[in-house]
Amino acid sequence: MSDSPNPLPFESFMNPGLGKYARVYRESIDNPEKFYSDAGWILDWYSKWDSIIDKSGEPYYRWYVNGKLNLSYNAVDRHANGIRRNKAAYIWVDEKGNEKIVTYRGLYKRVNALAKALLEMGIRKGDRIAIYLPMIIEEPVAMLAAARIGAVFTVIFSGFGAEAIADRVNDCGAKLMITADGGFRRGKIIPLKETVDRALELTKTVESVIVVKHTGNEINMTEGRDYWYHDIIREKDYVEPERMDSNDPLFILYTSGTTGKPKGVVHGNGGYGVWVTNTLKWAFDPQESDRWWCAADIGWITGHSYIVFAPLILGLTSILYEGSFDYPTPDQIWKIISYYEVDILYTSPTAIRALMKYGDEYPKNHNLSSLRVLGSVGEPINPVAWEWYYEKIGNSQCPVIDTYWQTETGGFVISPAIGIGVAPLKPGSATLPLPGIEPVIIDQSGKEAENGEKGFLFLKRPWPGLMIGLNKDDQKYRSLYFGKMSNAYFTGDYAVKDKDGYFWLLGRADEVLKVSGHRIGTIEVEDALLSTGLVAEAGVFGKTHQVKGESIVSFLVLGSGTSLDSAVDTIKNGIRRNFGSLLVPDEIHIVGSLPKTRSGKIMRRIIKAVYQDQIPGDVTTLESEASVEEIKEAIDKFKKELKASGNSRQRSQ
Ligand code: WT7
Repeated sequence: MSDSPNPLPFESFMNPGLGKYARVYRESIDNPEKFYSDAGWILDWYSKWDSIIDKSGEPYYRWYVNGKLNLSYNAVDRHANGIRRNKAAYIWVDEKGNEKIVTYRGLYKRVNALAKALLEMGIRKGDRIAIYLPMIIEEPVAMLAAARIGAVFTVIFSGFGAEAIADRVNDCGAKLMITADGGFRRGKIIPLKETVDRALELTKTVESVIVVKHTGNEINMTEGRDYWYHDIIREKDYVEPERMDSNDPLFILYTSGTTGKPKGVVHGNGGYGVWVTNTLKWAFDPQESDRWWCAADIGWITGHSYIVFAPLILGLTSILYEGSFDYPTPDQIWKIISYYEVDILYTSPTAIRALMKYGDEYPKNHNLSSLRVLGSVGEPINPVAWEWYYEKIGNSQCPVIDTYWQTETGGFVISPAIGIGVAPLKPGSATLPLPGIEPVIIDQSGKEAENGEKGFLFLKRPWPGLMIGLNKDDQKYRSLYFGKMSNAYFTGDYAVKDKDGYFWLLGRADEVLKVSGHRIGTIEVEDALLSTGLVAEAGVFGKTHQVKGESIVSFLVLGSGTSLDSAVDTIKNGIRRNFGSLLVPDEIHIVGSLPKTRSGKIMRRIIKAVYQDQIPGDVTTLESEASVEEIKEAIDKFKKELKASGNSRQRSQ
């Protein structure tokens, strides 16, 4: 227990289990220099930092100032040349049951070989490269090879379409692309190279493409631009790792925000490496002989931090799975856990709810007794799903680690932490802040909210995992994240703190949806709809969905000349092809007009309120840019519009 004059919020209900956590947390807040110095030594450094943090460029923070390191060295070399040489870094599995085991030594050789090939193709420190791969070994290899030579990589989720790829490549100016002939999903081949070919017609910067042969389907290779991965790799190559400055960029990862264009979140080497590695230890307490399965896609931050960097740096064995949880049969995931004796499973509430729907007999028919810890991420987990996960999957013996974090935070920020003393869990709460994190909930008026009162979640002090910036967008970095409260980071989420100091995340407070845990901007979907050329106006919002958390609802006015008959299918196919199925609305309603303010802004919240029959008495809260009269008129007009078009509340397509 601390003897500090200001008791921590949770010290009031201290119990023996929380003692260590409280001590570590207190230390991190009272003496951050010492705390982060100790935390920093989880990595190997070529030369030590001069100071822990430099705040002179606030709200930009530089961590482990002037420290020099290489994360590929930390992830691979230090195991490959030591006792973990023959330990499995990855057990790769696919939906057909094929398996490939790559040891730390094997990973080291692959990373070195590709790093050498990248150098030979003219890629140098600071150059940007794009990675568009399925969940195969070459994906972490590509990331680590880039990190080894100091090239900044951007991984593009393999579900994205050509325009989404082109937007990202153009924003970061990638010189090289690493892709595959295809990937497997639900028994079908996803033609990745074909999509890349279309994307590259929309970009200018990519000079070469490296193609992994994975599915063996026919593809076009462009002479002088495209190279087979197996043709440019030599097994015995070695590349001396680049001595990276702690604050050099490591990767850019695009994520949706409140505007149409995704933002390029940039993470550095030192602070990011320290944060992801420590947080994995704190939250999950993984053991040397564990099989760790972070069942996310590497294309998202979860995969970057907890399939690639943190588990490799810790020398763990990860399952890497290319496929769906419920294909070919609804018990695929339980089969894998049982066969591979997975110790820790980390997945999303959407996956848990989807698996729950299949019924209890699927998990019951498999031996899941190897599981020791369960994890959840991506969206709030409702207590019913939490309890099912805890009881039916964990046999009421495994703590559920509900990790709250974001692309921008690099790693977990609020989460139970069994590695530093387990807190009593509460189903549906991400529990308490990790060391170094000081969350605060602010109400509408800008004051700190009372316990039990919903408000906006801010993080008051910087931590090493915080992004180092947004690619080419200083203004957005400052205004979106630090514009609301001086030098406190705004998460964009609603949250509430209970009397015990536990945090409950309540969803996004901005125009961002969480669809199956994926972050999707409503304006991004509207832009995608408009870009089909078939739509004149679009209003998009989210609706609660039992499995996916939220689903995308859209109201459209068709362009003149668009025929009503085939419009919905054509629009959906167009978005799927150009942007990817993530952005395809679940519901498309076609109307003759949409409610707008006098200045022409579509009143999204009015569409939603009318659609859900939820017009509040006080309509002023609905739109800031319109008068009460204008809003009332808009509501009446839109109600008539809905009737005329035959769109009632329950109907959807
Ligand atoms: C947003 C960040 C974090 C990696 C995957 C998503 C929501 C995330 C939780 C959680 C409640 C959560 C928030 C956050 N979120 N984890 N445990 N409980 N909400 O990263 O795509 O950057 O999304 O996901 O709304 O702001 P992301």
